[in-house]
Amino acid sequence: MSCCYVLHKVDFFFSLSLACLFLSFAFWETAIDRSSSSQFHIPDQFFADLPACLAIIAGAVEGTKAEIKELLASRRRKTTLSEDFYINATKDCAAYIENRGFISVPLSEEELNFPIAYSIVIHEKIEMFERLLQSIYAPQNIYCVHIDLKSSLSFHKAVKKIVSCFPNVFVASKLESVVYASWSRVQADLNCMKDLLHSEVQWRYLLNTCGTDFPIKTNREMVKALKVLNGRNSLETEATSASKKARWQYQHNVTNRIIRTDVRKSPPPISSPMFSGNAYFVVSRAFVKYLMQNGNGEIQKFMEWEKDTYSPDEHMWATLLKSNNHSCSSLSLSRPFIRKKKKKRAFFS
Ligand SMILES: *[C@@H]1O[C@H](CO)[C@@H](O)[C@H](O)[C@H]1NC(C)=O
Ligand SMILES: *[C@@H]1O[C@H](CO)[C@@H](O)[C@H](O)[C@H]1NC(C)=O
Ligand SMILES: *[C@@H]1O[C@H](CO)[C@@H](O)[C@H](O)[C@H]1NC(C)=O
Repeated sequence: MSCCYVLHKVDFFFSLSLACLFLSFAFWETAIDRSSSSQFHIPDQFFADLPACLAIIAGAVEGTKAEIKELLASRRRKTTLSEDFYINATKDCAAYIENRGFISVPLSEEELNFPIAYSIVIHEKIEMFERLLQSIYAPQNIYCVHIDLKSSLSFHKAVKKIVSCFPNVFVASKLESVVYASWSRVQADLNCMKDLLHSEVQWRYLLNTCGTDFPIKTNREMVKALKVLNGRNSLETEATSASKKARWQYQHNVTNRIIRTDVRKSPPPISSPMFSGNAYFVVSRAFVKYLMQNGNGEIQKFMEWEKDTYSPDEHMWATLLKSNNHSCSSLSLSRPFIRKKKKKRAFFS
């Protein structure tokens, strides 16, 4: 596989990464100023977590399962913070930002000069959203948050309140009702892409994330990895298996869920072959512009054609990126997020 990044297989629990949050920030601190690493000190209460956390960060959990289990058990909480908590806590933004541990100044010149854009698509679990935002937040970056139209009013309100505390975080100007595995998931990212291109921040790369993502790299590490890409995009792609071809060979009917019909679709209106791949990408500003500006209308036609396919996010980005010049290279960059496991995520296999 010459093209794009290789995912680490992550079959441990998402919540572990939350337990390691403190440690990753501790490492982040050291990374900022290596000269002071001798002063790097892990408080005693976190010391026992170190082997399990290091294993998670390194993606090598074999042999540390027992420690990880213990770590997980020690961090399990029965309740999570409510929407009301955030609606109240954000009345005083300065206090909120400080109390909840958001970074408020760029941590290095290198990061300051390399802003990253995020498209964050969420629908529930306000505390997980806050933790995700807090963990990827840097004041020089820009964040577009797409809230599912179907989400509760109080969820919308709490997200808007959190977002209102930051000049560089906003809710997408157009919101979709997202149906699992349907076009609406792609449209949510497209809405954010459009808004992000209009923002004043001259971001270099865009990463899309969702509410069950959690980063395993610091902003500084991401900047370094993105610099290595040097303008190229990164996405895990593969040739389409026979079974996955049905996803775009038949029309699908979307109501509150997506159902395959017996009606065959026309072939894809694109000269390059179809690919399958990850729904989550790392793309350059130039690529996003190219998508949005769409000189000859071919992309628009292809996107229209994609709208009644199954899980277009798992073939549209892969196909567009593979057919595009700025795209793939022999680089192999791990996606800097782990995901809480869903029932099925075929593209990881
Ligand atoms: C609301 O927030 C303030 C300040 O953060 C806090 O002192 C107060 O206890 C909160 N009230 C509720 C009902 O949570
Ligand atoms: C698609 O769904 C609509 C609304 O439920 C229904 O009326 C229509 O017959 C469906 N089409 C096919 C081809 O199943
Ligand atoms: C893509 O790459 C080919 C070969 O390197 C080049 O001839 C072509 O002009 C490029 N197209 C675009 C749109 O950059």
